[in-house]
Amino acid sequence: MEAFSFYNPTTIHFGENSVTSLGQELPKYGPTVLLTYGGGSIKKNGIYEAVKGELEKAGKTVVELSGIMSNPRKEKVIEGAKLCREHKVDLILAVGGGSVVDCSKFIGAVALTDESYDWWQHMFVKRENVTKALPVGVVLTMSATGSEMNNRGVITDWEAQKKLGGYGDALYPKFSILDPTYTYSLPREQVVYGICDMLSHLMEQYFSTPETNNLSDALLEATFKNIMENAAVALNDLTDYEARSNIMWGATMALNGIMGLGKKQDWMSHQIEHALSAFYDIAHGAGLAIVHPMLLKYIYKDHVARFVRFATHIWGLKREDFSSDEELALAGIEALRNYFKSIGAPTTLREVNIPKEALPKIAASSNRYPTSYTNFTTEDILAVYESAYE
Ligand code: NZQ
Ligand code: ZN
Repeated sequence: MEAFSFYNPTTIHFGENSVTSLGQELPKYGPTVLLTYGGGSIKKNGIYEAVKGELEKAGKTVVELSGIMSNPRKEKVIEGAKLCREHKVDLILAVGGGSVVDCSKFIGAVALTDESYDWWQHMFVKRENVTKALPVGVVLTMSATGSEMNNRGVITDWEAQKKLGGYGDALYPKFSILDPTYTYSLPREQVVYGICDMLSHLMEQYFSTPETNNLSDALLEATFKNIMENAAVALNDLTDYEARSNIMWGATMALNGIMGLGKKQDWMSHQIEHALSAFYDIAHGAGLAIVHPMLLKYIYKDHVARFVRFATHIWGLKREDFSSDEELALAGIEALRNYFKSIGAPTTLREVNIPKEALPKIAASSNRYPTSYTNFTTEDILAVYESAYE
């Protein structure tokens, strides 16, 4: 195993009606709360009312920032930070999916900087550790990113067509409320994108060195299978509480730092997906369903043993049914792609209307850094995009 230090301070309140846990969390902070949310789904499904009720009971003064878009943009961070400074906000309460949570984390960080500070450069381009931020609490409404229990966030500079990730010790939510029933109102395609995203997180950690049979590999496999089992139930009945519970906790576990301990991790599929979203604003999970299998197909020959393990442990394929390890490895990747397709995710760039002519410029703008399995050049990224076209 690789050496590691692990720390995660986020308190989780899980279960039906766990929104009432706000009653024990809110008194820990000062009087003014910035309530952040997205395009309005929380006003249709009753979550807004429930949260407002708890804020009122706690006697808070509430300032609101609505309209946080999917793939949240820089401007929204600036707008939120300005509100925090003006109203001397004590706590940011993010109610939504990963986009609202990510944006809120950076609102809290930017609020504590001087207006002249080039936060984009420091926090995203140079990727400096953010060590000071206003506290953020979360009421999660979508299972996907793991942002509810990690110290990361992804923000888009739409003008520059860059979608970049930042992180920091100060960015862990103080608490996150996970009520599986809050995810019932998600449109089916968002449930699917969420499943693709959480499985992709597991694979970014699984397909990386060291490849010794360590605990993280076993946890990653178990979580992968559990999510698929529960997805089968949930996609048949979107209000199955047990299935939605397991998916919700599976997503959190997939990216709260525990799963990849002792592994180098990769994250290249995420980089090349972010580049697509930065140009075409596609849903993150949809982009991953398209590029992740094709990236694996591009690299599997260098790591055949790991891909054989994936094919046998995850997909139940048998060595005797294939003429070579390579053939078996490839069948595992095909099984993954077919799985994404079977649950209704797109698996080609054509399906999300990205023109083929745009691929070179997207590839050139993608972030890339040597990671565990991949040491991609722009040409490699372009080759993956092209293979994902049809
Ligand atoms: O805007 P609202 O009205 O909230 O609607 C949202 C949005 O349209 C809707 N939604 C969420 N909960 C709902 C609901 N609709 C009905 N009922 C509910 N209960 O779903 C849509 C998608 O929401 P969004 O927050 O954009 O999705 P997700 O959670 O997938 O977040 C995606 C963002 O997170 C970043 C992605 O890059 C992307 O920007 N990521 C963040 C990570 C992190 N912080 O660790 C890691 C991930 O890899 C990812 O990159
Ligand atoms: Zn992701």
